[in-house]
Amino acid sequence: MPDFLVKRDDFRDCRVVESDVPAVGPGQALLRVDSFGMTSNNVTYAVFGEAVSYWDFFPSSEERWGRLPTWGFAEVQSSEADGVEPGVRLYGYLPASSHLLVTPSGADDAGFVDASPHKAALPSAYHRYLAGPRDPFYRPETEAVQMLLRPLFFTSFLIDDQLDDEGLTTKGPVILSSASSKTSIAAAFMLAQREEVELLGLTGSSNTDFVESLGLYDGTVTYDAIDSLPRGPATYVDVSGDSRVRQAVHSHFGDELTHSMAVGATHWEQMEGGGEDLPGPAPVFFFAPNRVGKRADDWGRAGLETRVAEAWHPFCEWTEGWLETIPGEGFDAVRSAWLDVLEGRVEPKRAHVLAL
Ligand SMILES: NC(=O)c1ccc[n+]([C@@H]2O[C@H](COP(=O)([O-])OP(=O)(O)OC[C@H]3O[C@@H](n4cnc5c(N)ncnc54)[C@H](OP(=O)(O)O)[C@@H]3O)[C@@H](O)[C@H]2O)c1
Repeated sequence: MPDFLVKRDDFRDCRVVESDVPAVGPGQALLRVDSFGMTSNNVTYAVFGEAVSYWDFFPSSEERWGRLPTWGFAEVQSSEADGVEPGVRLYGYLPASSHLLVTPSGADDAGFVDASPHKAALPSAYHRYLAGPRDPFYRPETEAVQMLLRPLFFTSFLIDDQLDDEGLTTKGPVILSSASSKTSIAAAFMLAQREEVELLGLTGSSNTDFVESLGLYDGTVTYDAIDSLPRGPATYVDVSGDSRVRQAVHSHFGDELTHSMAVGATHWEQMEGGGEDLPGPAPVFFFAPNRVGKRADDWGRAGLETRVAEAWHPFCEWTEGWLETIPGEGFDAVRSAWLDVLEGRVEPKRAHVLAL
């Protein structure tokens, strides 16, 4: 079976390795990975591969090389697990590989949790594999958008929810960096539905027209014009992870910055520095699985899923107006997509859906 591997200390170095399809033992099932999405989010999995243990979800047989985590669809190829039938189609967290061996637990017609021992200490938000008919997000015609945007939208729903919960949507503008990213777009889509929210997008000059064309942000400002932002209270949602942008935003607003939420790292090569002497509040890392835990406690897991799914379908329909998927199959296509995403060469209106 082919495995797409990324060198852990040099992401531009990637290759495919072939190995035997694993044998299915008692209590296990073998998934055949059908296809998966690839955006900057997958680069961030590599960037935080060690720090947030993303490399540990799908252990690689090759030292210093990682199996890239993705979100996508798979089919049960064979099963020795109770309640898991061959042919069932599942959505979940998958390696950029052709197969994944799982140890299903609590299987029913909604899917199962992978109870593989090596995942026990890892965040549970990544353990569930959901079968279509009972999955409130699932519609057969939107599979490509689900692979690309579903985890990002889930995060964005939670960002919008937290900002509202903490009263930050009405204390001056909410400023999102990497305003052209799918995560920021989804957050802006949710925030824009709230009354009195002023949304400002920070982006690169080549992406300004696209960001403005979305009609979500009240204003778009390029990274070199942060000084032009109106002074006063403001909330910063940092999706770029760019230390120079963070420094510029914090220096501009100083103590009037109400909150600085560190969400992403699209500018993954500009993350270093700027931590010392940062004016204003210390950035707080936003980790979606933690917020999932809080809202699952408040609303129940099913209550949370229902709320997010209700918001998801209108968003999904709205993206039909601008999102173009780029299909690709085989190692060369996956490698080329990976390098394009890594180098920031993918137009923001486009996104890769891949299969090995
Ligand atoms: N904390 C959490 O729980 C959580 C959950 C989900 C996602 N996230 C993070 O949110 C971020 C956005 O992910 P996404 O998949 O939505 O991104 P995406 O749509 O692929 O973002 C594309 C945009 O990112 C910027 N960009 C990408 N690569 C770049 C490069 N090499 N150099 C400079 N700019 C680059 C550009 O935007 P601009 O020109 O506008 O900057 C580009 O238009 C990721 O870091 C992801 O991990 C975090």
